[in-house]
Amino acid sequence: MTSNEPTLRTVHLNVNGVDVERTVEPRMSLADFLRHEIGLTGTHLGCEHGVCGACTVMLDGAPARSCILYAVQADGHRITTVEGLATSEDELHPVQQAFWEHGALQCGFCTSGMLISAVDLLKRNPDPTEQDVREALSGNLCRCTGYQPIVAAVLDAAKRLQAGKAAQTTRHEDLERTV
Ligand code: FES
Ligand code: FES
Repeated sequence: MTSNEPTLRTVHLNVNGVDVERTVEPRMSLADFLRHEIGLTGTHLGCEHGVCGACTVMLDGAPARSCILYAVQADGHRITTVEGLATSEDELHPVQQAFWEHGALQCGFCTSGMLISAVDLLKRNPDPTEQDVREALSGNLCRCTGYQPIVAAVLDAAKRLQAGKAAQTTRHEDLERTV
């Protein structure tokens, strides 16, 4: 006699630097795993078809749509969600800070996916043009259509990150000179 109950699978993920293990149904999406199994509700679900980008997370450092991945497919992999972007509880990631200062959100539904895509872009291309930013974010839909401040925030964040690196380099060079 066969059972209709799905066979459960145990998955091990590293989420925002923390190892997690859960036993789940094989059909559970990665987005549902993040939201319902470990309570990281910053990842949003819009279309659930891989189109809107709201559910974007990093999988081993590259953006991925968590609505069209099963949690079991992420077994053994490293995930970064919007909750993992800030380096400390007191300090936002520079891209988050720029979004905040530019008012680059309205309802905020698309924001976590936008942030992840923006962080990925600036990692690959630290000095993007406006066109580069628009292309990189073209897979993230904003229903409030507030694209202008989002693009401005990403360009501003790029400048801040560049300036931060320059400051670090200068400090490093100064130190080297004084040794
Ligand atoms: S909810 Fe995943 S792409 Fe829209
Ligand atoms: S701020 Fe509302 S969907 Fe983008």
